[in-house]
Amino acid sequence: MDYFNYQQDGQLWAEDVALADLAERFGTPLYVYSRATLERHWHAFDRAVDDHPHLICYAVKANSNLGVLNVLARLGSGFDIVSGGELERVIAAGGDPAKVVFSGVGKTAAEMQRALSLGIKCFNVESEPELERLNQVAGEMGKVAPISLRINPDVDAKTHPYISTGLRDNKFGIAFDRAPDVYRLAQQLPNIKVTGIDCHIGSQLTELSPFIDATDRLLALIDLLKAEGIAIEHLDVGGGLGVTYSAEQPPAPSEYAEALMARLVDYPELELVFEPGRAIAANAGVMLTRVEYLKHTDHKNFAIVDAAMNDLIRPTLYQAWQEIIPLRPRDGEAKTYDFVGPICETGDFIGKDRHLCLAAGDLLAVRSAGAYGFVMASNYNTRVRAAEIMVDGQQIHVVREREELAELWRSEHLLPE
Ligand code: LLP
Repeated sequence: MDYFNYQQDGQLWAEDVALADLAERFGTPLYVYSRATLERHWHAFDRAVDDHPHLICYAVKANSNLGVLNVLARLGSGFDIVSGGELERVIAAGGDPAKVVFSGVGKTAAEMQRALSLGIKCFNVESEPELERLNQVAGEMGKVAPISLRINPDVDAKTHPYISTGLRDNKFGIAFDRAPDVYRLAQQLPNIKVTGIDCHIGSQLTELSPFIDATDRLLALIDLLKAEGIAIEHLDVGGGLGVTYSAEQPPAPSEYAEALMARLVDYPELELVFEPGRAIAANAGVMLTRVEYLKHTDHKNFAIVDAAMNDLIRPTLYQAWQEIIPLRPRDGEAKTYDFVGPICETGDFIGKDRHLCLAAGDLLAVRSAGAYGFVMASNYNTRVRAAEIMVDGQQIHVVREREELAELWRSEHLLPE
């Protein structure tokens, strides 16, 4: 459920603000987020596991705008980060470093130092060389690094191959069979403290079974490690819960949590960590765009809009389908359109074969754009990145201003005379 709805005036609103007013005032393309929706989705996870020790670590990569992070930090959220840059964003947004888990296969020594000096909750270690580097960096600082190992449970997440991460062939994590040995190594390293176990099998999962299979495999490892005297305090199940873009019916956070809790009855002390990104942010955001031209050819109708693949790359990159709806639906004959942007690439589309009644100048909303939308934007074709707005009831906050052209080449240089 989200707070983007048509109201009695026939227009699409975000909470108590008409989206057309935002488009007129701030221009398009424009990202608009709903604070109430973000909070609702975060609470859905938090309440689902109310009775069990837990931490929701929002996956910053999904939408790292400071305003978004700030809304979640105020709820007491933790954060899952994958770079030193994301760590600085969390701090700038008022997040608590003690609730940060650090994922990613390529952590640099400098990133480790910064995370250690801020005292993050846990490093999700993805390889043996990383473990050894972390031990060394921590030792040089006179610190002990809390770690979990990211285990690759070799389960098929049944999602798009680019966002499936828990198979043997993927670059992520430590192979299930190697895990006991790597834990034994970790236990012996003087500047490492084993605190958890972690996995993340993929994104946009619409079924529970892969999550449950992965959890069962991790619980079996926890039992094995316990028998050897290696205590695991938290189980991090990663992110990956899918959302509805079109007709998908992913499990609700409550169903997901219920299935997990059924597995955890014998582990009352084991803290459960979630790393949801998309499930919190995707349907808390829309991207607004305006139709520049309608172009009719013998074969096709094109709606040429002012947003492009640089603004929203998911359709191009993953053939992802995101709903496109008018801000003010009009009566009349609908036609089938491809929605394309101004970029000089055939792959520059936002949606294909959509049936709508349109006129040039119409405003549209691309739904489910709150996750992996703006964060994946680029300046390709020397296009400035869009502004971002946070709606909160009737209030409007500009959480990122539209880029200025001159900013794009500010750090570039001509050759000397
Ligand atoms: N934790 C880790 C270690 C991850 O790698 C990811 C996402 C998450 C959590 C959050 O997953 P989520 O709950 O959002 O599914 N750009 C792609 C998605 C890439 C996801 C990468 N990892 C897309 O637009 O579909």
